[in-house]
Amino acid sequence: MTNSTKTRVLTGITTTGTPHLGNYVGAIRPAINASLDPNVQSYYFMADLHALIKSQDPARIQQSRLEIAATWLALGLDPTNAVFYRQSDVPETTELMWLLSCVCDKGRMNRAHAYKAAVADNQAENSDDDKGVTMGLFSYPVLMAADMLLFNANKVPVGRDQIQHIEMARDMATRFNYLFKGEFFTLPEAVIDETTDVLVGLDGRKMSKSYNNTIPLFSTEKELLKLVRKITTNSLEPGEPKDPDNCSLFQIYKAFAQPDEVAAMRLKYQEGIGWGAAKTEVFEYLNQILSAPRERYVALMQDPAAIEKILIQGAARARDEASPFMARLRQAVGLGHFA
Ligand code: TRP
Repeated sequence: MTNSTKTRVLTGITTTGTPHLGNYVGAIRPAINASLDPNVQSYYFMADLHALIKSQDPARIQQSRLEIAATWLALGLDPTNAVFYRQSDVPETTELMWLLSCVCDKGRMNRAHAYKAAVADNQAENSDDDKGVTMGLFSYPVLMAADMLLFNANKVPVGRDQIQHIEMARDMATRFNYLFKGEFFTLPEAVIDETTDVLVGLDGRKMSKSYNNTIPLFSTEKELLKLVRKITTNSLEPGEPKDPDNCSLFQIYKAFAQPDEVAAMRLKYQEGIGWGAAKTEVFEYLNQILSAPRERYVALMQDPAAIEKILIQGAARARDEASPFMARLRQAVGLGHFA
């Protein structure tokens, strides 16, 4: 199959934090699996320009970019197959963002949920609607549209909160195609994985950095054990039957184990396995899955030059496509060469 007939799967990872088990189950694992499909060409990038919207802490952004790159590589992403790059290494992205900004209704952006939430918070405290709102936050969906449209992505795996942004990208693409009379852009589609969407955290809520209830993917063995021990359970004694379906520990196990292993654990719950024993089993299971990638991760983190090289190669591949495409788009809007 040639590259141009493959389905293009693209997704971005905002580089503000340290990857945790929830990121793995919800995004990294399905993305790496998708990249192995011979009918797919995948584009995975670090959305480091998006990170600037949320964080003005250069050290944190730099560290997060390195950790995220090392994580994906350690977990088996093959950068000679997937196009793996930093958004900021592909300047065509911001150039396209401007072209899209000029065909995108401001009123439509007023309804973007991140912006609306900021306005609602301001109104709740009787402040000016736009207090603390940067143009970066406001234009977030336009930058994201540029990410997708630049590579004519067909499928975009994301969390539910991102569906609106993909719809906005489709609107921008449609409008651009109409105004400039051509099929320049493919309309991207959101892909939401219903089964692995959300992993619960230590306290039973969604595992999320903002709830401070995460298990970092590459915690040391000791930290991993400590965190698994912290997963909230209840006061039932060993010997008393336990309900797996309302149990964070079980949900976390289930996100990793095979169906027959999950069935066996379910039985142990019914037979009254003690919390201590159940936690030891879950820890051992996770640790056995994570220990090889953890070693690769530690080695990669000690060799930033190797990661840099991979990302520069990824950006070159991305730009091989993006740059001629941008030239075509410039031409279409009236910014082409004179001769
Ligand atoms: N906004 C996305 C998020 O926070 C990250 C992202 C940036 C993205 N650009 C993208 C996701 C393009 C998919 C496609 O999750």
